[in-house]
Amino acid sequence: MAHIGVDTHPTRTYTAGELRHANVGEAVILKGWVDTRRDLGGVIFIDLRDRYGLTQIVFSPQDNVDAHAAAEALRSEFVISVKGIVRDRSAETVNPKLPTGEVEVRAHELVILNESEPVPFTLSAHEEKQVKTNEDLRLKYRYLDMRRSDLQNKMLTRHRFYQITRKYYDQHNFVEVETPVLMKSTPEGARDYLVPSRVHPGKFYALPQSPQTYKQILMVAGLDRYMQITKCFRDEDLRADRQPEFTQVDLEMTFATEDMVYELLEGHMKAVWKEIKGVDIETPFRRISYDEAIQRYGSDKPDLRFGLELQDVSGVFEGSGFRVFDSVLDGGGKILSIVVPGMGDQGRGYMDRLDKDVVRKRIGASGLIYFKLPSDGSETVSSVKEHVLPADVVQGAIDHLGAKAGDLVLVLAGMPPKVYDQAGTLRLHMANELNLIPEGADGPWEFLWVTDFPLVEWDEDTQRYYAMHHPFTSPRAEDLDKMETEPGAIRARAYDLVLNGNEIGGGSIRIHNRSVQNQMFKLLDIDAEEAQQRFGFLLDAFRYGAPPHGGLALGLDRIIMLLTGAQSLRDVIAFPKTQSAQEAMVGSPDVVDDKQLEELHIGLVLPEEEEG
Ligand code: AMO
Repeated sequence: MAHIGVDTHPTRTYTAGELRHANVGEAVILKGWVDTRRDLGGVIFIDLRDRYGLTQIVFSPQDNVDAHAAAEALRSEFVISVKGIVRDRSAETVNPKLPTGEVEVRAHELVILNESEPVPFTLSAHEEKQVKTNEDLRLKYRYLDMRRSDLQNKMLTRHRFYQITRKYYDQHNFVEVETPVLMKSTPEGARDYLVPSRVHPGKFYALPQSPQTYKQILMVAGLDRYMQITKCFRDEDLRADRQPEFTQVDLEMTFATEDMVYELLEGHMKAVWKEIKGVDIETPFRRISYDEAIQRYGSDKPDLRFGLELQDVSGVFEGSGFRVFDSVLDGGGKILSIVVPGMGDQGRGYMDRLDKDVVRKRIGASGLIYFKLPSDGSETVSSVKEHVLPADVVQGAIDHLGAKAGDLVLVLAGMPPKVYDQAGTLRLHMANELNLIPEGADGPWEFLWVTDFPLVEWDEDTQRYYAMHHPFTSPRAEDLDKMETEPGAIRARAYDLVLNGNEIGGGSIRIHNRSVQNQMFKLLDIDAEEAQQRFGFLLDAFRYGAPPHGGLALGLDRIIMLLTGAQSLRDVIAFPKTQSAQEAMVGSPDVVDDKQLEELHIGLVLPEEEEG
């Protein structure tokens, strides 16, 4: 048992990342964690760690017998305070990898401030020792995981992002306003997290899916420009890029146009990339319409770091006599193709797996048709027998596509919009196969505005329209007359910001007119009474001189994920939720006392426990 002392030392004079050759000879005090400990010929070497770095501490009986004796007790993660003198390291022990690697502190006093039990995984800041640790364990012991430089650096990047963002929007006249967390349901398409009211039995607050309605009200209130770095809560299925509580940089501007929003955000992204990555990103960003994104990439968040664009070959196969194609085309479907370079020599096994495991199982398409153009220029190999799909038709398609020896031509047929989605997923799969998607955080950075989203989309299951963005998005003026007649064809003044295939932001120019807003609610099957009950405050506000306005919200966590090359949002959030929406460290969600439930007027109707 080590002797745990009261800290008799004054405050530290340096952090563990600061000492250099220029400090040699100084008496210093350092405090931190024991990263590693080595005993060499009666001398004890400690790497002292804190957020700022590592410093080598030497305990030698020649410097101080008591300190050396006390250091015998040190183990990894003990918290210590050390007094000593800075010395140059001997030439052969200089560590060029460490900023403090030229010097060491010869200890004269040691106070052990706290001990540590052996930790469940190694925390050493030495890169080579950062072994992959099971994520569940890391989440349970998040305070230990966060002692490591990897996670700390991600938190620091996040911190930098907050600072740059606040400064940028302040310079552009934005006012930071906090909107309520206990609010009432706003529709962003997910389920709400509800909070029961004690004083109003049977009533619930909803945690905001976004501050959308409040920020619009702030525009009616004349604040002109609003920003907030804020938590949003959505009870939806989780994925690597989705958390139930996540952070938005939420923005709204009075008298906004699309171009104003684009320019503002481009400036923000430019500042972030310059300061955090030292990279000058090119602006203005590319813009493509939603329709074009779907047609060329099969996605409304296309990754532009590689080509492999979809090509519509419906016309080429018209009247081919091939039953699969004919029936799709007769039914109004599409035949889409992707030319994959360098894969024309793939064997039968690979193609069968691509068809069965990827196209049918994962993508859910009815099957893959392909033409292989061997690299030696020999005859094209078609997956469809020649008497079923004649060679000249295949050749016609190859000529149309401009495919050449060594290429693999993949073909999917089906009904839009599904077939575009399937082809888009196949495009990403092939890009992965060809290693076209760089890992890490060194770029390239392909920013893109996707514009002109449809206002609404039809849902077959429920037989009704849903807002593609949210119900407050303005239709384009020239499409307004289609509200009654052809809602599916109305384009919205909505836009998404996409980076390397990730949707990092979304927004729109809003409806600011009460009657258009009412028309929109009607289109979404929200009757007048329900509209008044849920959004009466907004409709009422629109009575009193509501100015035109618009804005956007950035997914902050996603941006940090991309900036740091993290694989998951969990790696850039201090205390994230797991895939099953639990927080492993504190153990939430959890049961509560019967008394609490009683006070909230809540009785539980639990699902029956499954047998076995
Ligand atoms: P939207 O729903 O598109 O728009 O959200 C804006 C951005 O937030 C990020 N995001 C998420 N990040 C992590 N986990 C999630 N579950 C999650 N859901 C969304 C995305 C997305 O682009 N009120 C509107 C904005 C507006 O119209 O101004 C809104 O919330 O990066």
